[in-house]
Amino acid sequence: MKKTLITMFLVFLSAIFIYSYADAKVSGVCSSCHTMHNSQDGAPMTFDSSATPNGKLLRGSCVGCHAQNTSSNIVDSIPQVYHSDPTDLAAGNFSYVVTADSSGHNVEGILTSADGVLGNTPPGYNSGYDPSLTGFSTASRLVCAGSNGCHGNRDSSDEWDAVSGGHHGDDSILKYGAGFTLTGQGADVPTSYRFLYKIKGAEDSDWQDTVTATDHNEYLAETYATRGTTDSWANMKGTISELCSECHSTFHLGGTSGIGSASPWLRHPTDVVIPSSGEFASISTTYSDQTPVGRPAASLTSGLTAAIGTVAAGTDRVICLSCHRAHGSQYPDSLRYSYQTTLSSGTGCLRCHTQKDPY
Ligand code: HEC
Ligand code: HEC
Ligand code: HEC
Ligand code: HEC
Ligand code: HEC
Repeated sequence: MKKTLITMFLVFLSAIFIYSYADAKVSGVCSSCHTMHNSQDGAPMTFDSSATPNGKLLRGSCVGCHAQNTSSNIVDSIPQVYHSDPTDLAAGNFSYVVTADSSGHNVEGILTSADGVLGNTPPGYNSGYDPSLTGFSTASRLVCAGSNGCHGNRDSSDEWDAVSGGHHGDDSILKYGAGFTLTGQGADVPTSYRFLYKIKGAEDSDWQDTVTATDHNEYLAETYATRGTTDSWANMKGTISELCSECHSTFHLGGTSGIGSASPWLRHPTDVVIPSSGEFASISTTYSDQTPVGRPAASLTSGLTAAIGTVAAGTDRVICLSCHRAHGSQYPDSLRYSYQTTLSSGTGCLRCHTQKDPY
């Protein structure tokens, strides 16, 4: 009897272990992130020792936890978006924007002031193509989450409401391994790629602290029969380029005010297939973090064990992130490579446009 009980207990324990292992959500004791009264022995419990309490009884704000500006790109398992580590995570680093305004997004709390040239206005904005309830307001600054940010559900103007449930949710369908599947992705914030509501992909577990051809994030890129002048949450296919276009609409939508519909294009196309003909027929088949490509749903199969190390003309697509970093980069316009200096063959634009001479 005793033996049976012990065996049952061990089975129970390993079940908990396997469950929590598969479940890639925040871990650690509650008190390392939360404070019940923001007071202990009469002193504030917030990380910056501020007496002002944070939403959701947290010891920091998004910026307080994620933009600590230390020499590490990951601090206590918290991915950092503003730091001085020589290695940047996948979206880049807001430190470049602190140095040069045009290097990326001027997010409130990290950047003291709005972009000196653009102000709070996203170039290419079209309210019809923004699926959120209230839309982006140029009367206030760009923030991390909510209607004036990128993360969480943009129907909420409050940052905490927008990401609610994200950090404690089960995101195993987004992680490489047996649990990976596109089915169910985008249903809510935790099941959306990096808490970007509705967006789909595969999440590298170290946010690309280490990045190789076979170790990186994957982004969905899809075909659009038409790209009208309106978009809605229900209509969205969940591509990363659609996320950018919630605010930079004109750079994604079709027609004469948008990208056009075929060559000759009017603005650089995204979410279109890299043709397997002409100069594209000889693109390098090795995936590079300098010019990532998006994948059709058929390539992001259930149980995907690792990132795809190849690029296939005729299948893979050019996306906003083929040229840009999401947060900030060392180049103007948050580009992944310089567009104003000579490119050597096989780099930057020339990775895809193989027959344009290095200039
Ligand atoms: C590593 C940091 C971290 C730890 C540890 C942590 N939390 Fe949280 N928790 C967060 C963050 C960040 C949020 C707010 C954003 C969100 O909901 O994603 C949150 C939100 C919550 C919420 C609000 C949920 C909602 O749906 O809005 C509750 C309740 C909560 N935590 C309870 C706990 C309890 C209980 C523990 C300990 C078992 C704990 N947390 C441990 C970071 C943490
Ligand atoms: C108390 C500290 C804390 C606060 C406050 C906090 N986060 Fe996080 N956040 C974390 C930790 C820890 C992780 C890593 C969780 C993991 O390992 O998956 C994380 C992960 C993330 C991720 C990546 C999710 C993924 O799939 O890897 C995003 C995006 C994010 N947070 C956004 C936010 C936003 C937006 C806010 C403010 C509304 C916020 N966080 C507030 C601690 C925090
Ligand atoms: C919630 C709205 C929003 C979303 C979503 C968004 N942006 Fe922006 N973006 C802005 C605003 C506002 C500006 C202008 C202010 C600034 O530069 O901070 C801007 C500016 C830019 C700039 C010019 C930067 C400069 O300083 O000249 C680039 C490049 C850019 N965004 C690329 C992207 C890409 C790529 C994505 C998707 C990964 C994206 N944006 C998603 C709001 C957004
Ligand atoms: C990831 C691959 C990729 C990268 C990187 C890339 N392009 Fe493209 N580019 C494409 C694809 C695919 C098309 C559309 C081809 C088609 O369908 O005709 C295209 C179209 C164009 C066109 C329009 C051609 C036409 O027929 O109308 C120009 C011009 C162009 N790209 C220039 C550039 C420049 C300049 C850069 C670097 C800043 C660049 N591209 C980077 C894949 C790429
Ligand atoms: C082929 C590379 C390439 C792709 C793909 C691309 N961009 Fe750009 N983007 C650039 C370059 C280069 C610039 C610099 C300005 C220019 O050349 O028009 C730029 C500039 C911008 C700007 C700043 C505009 C301004 O007025 O300052 C924004 C915003 C932007 N891109 C957003 C996007 C979004 C959103 C997507 C996807 C829908 C996207 N880009 C796709 C290369 C690209």
